[in-house]
Amino acid sequence: MASDDKIRVIIVDDIAETRENIRKLLQFESDVEVVGVARTGREAIDLAKEVKPDVALMDINMPDMDGIAATEQIQRVLPYVQIIILSVQSDSNYMRRAMLAGARDFLTKPPTIDELNSAIRRAGARAHEERAKTGAPSTSQPAKPGVMAPVAAPLSTLGSVITVFSPKGGVGCTTLATNLAVSLHSEDTRVVLVDGNLQFGDVAVFLNEQSKFSIADLAPRVAELDPEIVDSVLIKHAQSGIKVLAAPVKPEYADNITGDQFGKVLLYLRQMFSYVIVDTVSAMNDTTVNAIDASDLIVLVANQDIPSIKSARLFMDVADAFGIERKRILFVMNKFDKRVGVTPEKVGETLKQDVAAIIPLEERVIVSINRGVPYILVDKARPISKSILSLTEVIRQRLTELEGLEQPVAKLRKKK
Ligand SMILES: Nc1ncnc2c1ncn2[C@@H]1O[C@H](COP(=O)(O)OP(=O)(O)OP(=O)(O)O)[C@@H](O)[C@H]1O
Ligand SMILES: [Mg+2]
Repeated sequence: MASDDKIRVIIVDDIAETRENIRKLLQFESDVEVVGVARTGREAIDLAKEVKPDVALMDINMPDMDGIAATEQIQRVLPYVQIIILSVQSDSNYMRRAMLAGARDFLTKPPTIDELNSAIRRAGARAHEERAKTGAPSTSQPAKPGVMAPVAAPLSTLGSVITVFSPKGGVGCTTLATNLAVSLHSEDTRVVLVDGNLQFGDVAVFLNEQSKFSIADLAPRVAELDPEIVDSVLIKHAQSGIKVLAAPVKPEYADNITGDQFGKVLLYLRQMFSYVIVDTVSAMNDTTVNAIDASDLIVLVANQDIPSIKSARLFMDVADAFGIERKRILFVMNKFDKRVGVTPEKVGETLKQDVAAIIPLEERVIVSINRGVPYILVDKARPISKSILSLTEVIRQRLTELEGLEQPVAKLRKKK
């Protein structure tokens, strides 16, 4: 059969095993060719633009952008691509949303070979018809046999620094920083999580890791860093793949690290990682100021209690006074409990800042912290994980919008 007549399929799923199983099911179908795989919604869009498939087999729940949002965007640029949603939920609400986004079919996981084949053939025939109507060529470049199309490359060569901060302690900065780091991480968008609480940092503990190396080993050598030195100091968190730059093992070692050194280490890490996530203490000390200074984005965290909101407002005043643009700040309400009368909208009004995400109160968070496993790795389906994934998406979007603007914040130190 000529390769032009084959149905060209991409498989989109964050779980490698699922992708592989589907690929195996399809490998003996002579008229079906798997031309690429993607692990996230965003990768799926880039891949679709590159290989212009006939059919996309699309998972719904994925890190960064979910399958429904990806479906919508692929349909917008490549309307002839037929999207088949694969999901464990046979929920009619999901189905309706997927169809509204432009999906053509809906299969429950795991599909049988017959279900898969008949859905792909229906979709393939339709894609060929639609292409013929629009005059679009039926393939882009011929795929090399046995070679998967490359997954999307990171947007820019310099990574982004994101500081998670709250002027009040205990609101959930470290919880959020660790979970965000894990959810932003992929093989192509590598993440390093930096502990900016130099005296009593607990980032490593949140990940059930320990190391005798830390930021204290890098700070004095900040002028002569190289990737090998940096890598030898970082902890690799095996479960998620992220790297961690831990706080010094003893509080007194923090005295030897200047804010300036800390900021320079962050800017160096931007060359090695797509995302540098910084967890901070709830004080505008030299370390925090330099972290904010080096940041592209600041995630400002508060809870529903008045002291926390008051502190967030004071921080906003400082940020305004120092000329930090509002679009560089993402305000997040954590531990949200709808029984508490203070609504996120009201808080947003007080701060004159949109609410970027609402993370619900989840009692089980403490269990995951004590086990040293970020919640997002425990249960992706719960509301808290979904809200973290949605914040991850807001972050990616905001960073794309900010691209091209003078970066990073770099305002606080100049005015001091
Ligand atoms: N969404 C949530 N729901 C319920 N509990 C939460 C949530 N997020 C965080 N917590 C709890 O709040 C407590 C403080 O969390 P965390 O250590 O992340 O805050 P922090 O702002 O980093 O605090 P610190 O000022 O000590 O650095 C922890 O016990 C954690 O279990
Ligand atoms: Mg903390």
